[in-house]
Amino acid sequence: MNLREAGTEDVAAIKWALYAALDWDPARDLPPFEFVMAHPEAARYHRDWGRPGDLGVIAEDDGTVAGVAYCRLFTDHDHGHGYVDGATPEVAVAVEAGRRGEGVGTRLLTALADLARRDGIDRLSLSVDAANPARRLYERLGYRQLAEDGDGVRMLIELR
Ligand SMILES: CC(C)(COP(=O)(O)OP(=O)(O)OC[C@H]1O[C@@H](n2cnc3c(N)ncnc32)[C@H](O)[C@@H]1OP(=O)(O)O)[C@@H](O)C(=O)NCCC(=O)NCCS
Repeated sequence: MNLREAGTEDVAAIKWALYAALDWDPARDLPPFEFVMAHPEAARYHRDWGRPGDLGVIAEDDGTVAGVAYCRLFTDHDHGHGYVDGATPEVAVAVEAGRRGEGVGTRLLTALADLARRDGIDRLSLSVDAANPARRLYERLGYRQLAEDGDGVRMLIELR
């Protein structure tokens, strides 16, 4: 497995990760990919991928994407559920269904935190559904819970 930094050309992998992250619950059917991606709530997480502040890591096996972690900065006027402030990027992560539980997500999130530190970022945030087992992974990596509401749990990690 090879990990590499995402570039502007990786928008398809970013969108795949976003859809897979939204589609975490096997008991729920998400609308089709293109429909979800066009929705304003989702579009803000991939539109113009590669803009300043965007950071991502891609795990690949022989050129095939096995997982992606990325983060992006938002503003007080345009943000989603994991938003804390304009200096704290919000994280999304997904691993290919057949590769989960092998440590890929841990490696991706650790590498993303390293990239963020490199770029002078102090904190990362995210939003996770209260019932998503990914919560345990985030806690193990040092994310702590900030708030819980109907939209899920907001979590934050201090990188310094
Ligand atoms: C969450 C996710 C990225 C973790 O990647 P991973 O490679 O499976 O993670 P690791 O192997 O490094 O760590 C395993 C941990 O991930 C979490 N996890 C979440 N869903 C899992 C799954 N289907 N299989 C295995 N682990 C899962 C658990 O916390 C698990 O910890 P545990 O062993 O204590 O139960 C991956 O399971 C995934 O893509 N899930 C669907 C999308 C999603 O929920 N994204 C996050 C939205 S906020």
